[in-house]
Order: sequence, then C-alpha cells, then structure tokens
Amino acid sequence: MEGASEEREREKWNQRYQQGTHGTLPPDPLLIAAFDRYIEPLFPNAGHALDIAGGTGRHAIFLAAKGWKVRLTDIAEAGLANARKNAGDYASQIEFRVEDLTRFDGSCESYDLILVFFFLRREMFGELVKALKPGGLLIYKGYTRGQAKFGGGPTNPEYLFAENELLDSFRELHVLHYAELIRGCGLAEFVGQKV
Ligand SMILES: C[S@@+](CC[C@H](N)C(=O)[O-])C[C@H]1O[C@@H](n2cnc3c(N)ncnc32)[C@H](O)[C@@H]1O
Repeated sequence: MEGASEEREREKWNQRYQQGTHGTLPPDPLLIAAFDRYIEPLFPNAGHALDIAGGTGRHAIFLAAKGWKVRLTDIAEAGLANARKNAGDYASQIEFRVEDLTRFDGSCESYDLILVFFFLRREMFGELVKALKPGGLLIYKGYTRGQAKFGGGPTNPEYLFAENELLDSFRELHVLHYAELIRGCGLAEFVGQKV
C-alpha cells in the first residue's frame, strides 16, 4: 500500500506523462560524460544497471544502446509506457517496473551501476549503497536549495539537496566526481564507487 503523498505523486506524474508535458529524451550531460570517463573503462563488457525513477527512459535507453541490461523503475505507469515506446528495439534489454521507491529494498539485489536523476527520497540512500555490487557505481544528480532563486524544479526543500549533502550521505563510497553547479541553476552531481 502506498502512502497518500506517494499516491498524489503517482497521479501528478501520470498526468504529466499522459499530456506529454514532461519526458525529454536526450540523456543528461553528466551520464554522457560519466559513461566515457568511468562506466566504459570500468565495465567494458557492459553490465546490469538500475535506473531509479527513470521516467520515460532517457537514461535506460542510452545504456541499453551501449549493451547494458537495465531495470527501469518508476511509480508512474504512464511514464513507463512512454519509455517502452521510446525504447523501440532496445526494449528487450530493459525491464520496466512500476514501483514506489520510498519502499525500495536493496538488500537482495546487485547492480554494477545505479542512476538517480532528479529524484530525492533520503530514506532510500542506505538501500542504494546495499544494492550496488562491490566496485559498482552510483551516479546521482539533482537540484540543490540554490535552485530556488532561479525558478524551475521543485520548490519543496524536502526535495532539494543541502550543500555537500550527497558527499555527506554517501561517505561509504569512493568519490570519483562531485560538483555543485551554481551559475544559472542549483544542481549537485555525484559519481561514487562502492569499494
Ligand atoms: C523529475 S522526474 C525524473 C525522471 C528521470 N529520472 C529523468 O531524469 O529523466 C521524477 C520521476 O520520479 C518519479 N517518482 C516520483 N515519486 C516516486 C516514487 N515514490 N517512486 C518511484 N518513482 C517516483 C516520477 O514518476 C518521475 O518519473
């Protein structure tokens, strides 16, 4: 059973995806850069990835095109339906899974790569680390509290990163990349490896 706030999230996102007002397809520049710099050198034969709250599949499709098997999870069925269409022939490499990720349990899963883009639920941080295989990578990007002055993105501070929050929250991981972007936007990006 989902909580009322998650049910509202599901409805809100389903509506956006049905109306086609959300769901860009180009992958985020962080994933493109991290692929060349970290993912490909560490996993030349590809591997298993988890795309958390992956929406219409821009990152799952990018990875599938590079030979990865991807589990794409999201609470919004309409987003996943769009993702399946967007994936075309790559759909066979992607498992589309409707899931409320506030209840994500990483204990019996093992991924080489976990992506979290623009989705923040602090209660799942520990589970993300558990779900990585040793040597696996976590790539996380989202808005910081600095975004408030630029407009766009969430306004609820609960969904915004505090300064250095990703660094502080994933201390168990070896940090390969961390940046807070403050010109024209407020964004934090993190790439860490489980040792
Ligand atoms: C801003 S979108 C980001 C989509 C994707 N990661 C990207 O960067 O293109 C946030 C996503 O979180 C999903 N979401 C919201 N609450 C969720 C929950 N409790 N469990 C799983 N997914 C959720 C929404 O359906 C939506 O697809």
